[in-house]
Amino acid sequence: MPNDWEERYQSGDMPWEKGEAAPGLVDFLAARPGLARGRVLVPGCGTGHDARVWAAAGFAATGCDISPSAIRLAVEKTRAAGLTAEFILGDFLGDAPPRPFDWIFEHTLFCAIEPDRREDYAAAVVRWLKPGGGYLAVNYMIPDTEGPPFGTSRGEIVARFSPHFDLREEWVPRSYPNRKGLERMFWWRRRG
Ligand SMILES: C[S@@+](CC[C@H](N)C(=O)[O-])C[C@H]1O[C@@H](n2cnc3c(N)ncnc32)[C@H](O)[C@@H]1O
Repeated sequence: MPNDWEERYQSGDMPWEKGEAAPGLVDFLAARPGLARGRVLVPGCGTGHDARVWAAAGFAATGCDISPSAIRLAVEKTRAAGLTAEFILGDFLGDAPPRPFDWIFEHTLFCAIEPDRREDYAAAVVRWLKPGGGYLAVNYMIPDTEGPPFGTSRGEIVARFSPHFDLREEWVPRSYPNRKGLERMFWWRRRG
């Protein structure tokens, strides 16, 4: 897979980098202090804001990214924050997981990959997640076919994940100002 992402980190062309975790994730964790703790994977973690929020909430957080510079920045920022999280360089779509996870948190990876890789993406979520595990996604509900970011619809999301997952809840989250009203969160449970 060509790694244009690394070039973008090296040139500082990172419009997705908001300097903070996804607001919808922050609210999800704050509203559910009793969630069973476990191992969470953030694929396409970028500089690690979302992984750090899970770590700060008491989860064993792992971020995975295909870009070495993203991983380096994630490690540096996590150390500076005084938090503990693991960051691994890898291809979420192609690699075998080092171990299965209790949770996977999606935020701006699904919309970043080529749409013709979405079957591979869904298969990867099944592969990296334990049966019964939680798949929590912030999906970007834009119509764009030229990307990244590439858009999706509720119909596509439901059709793609329903074969392997039960939908627990869905809602419109609080978002960064430039994504207000354009995101939808889905909380799935892997069957099995
Ligand atoms: C749009 S950025 C979002 C980063 C982060 N989630 C955020 O919101 O700040 C997409 C990220 O996914 C990473 N990525 C793209 N393809 C990947 C793959 N196959 N496996 C792991 N990471 C990937 C890129 O390097 C990049 O960091």
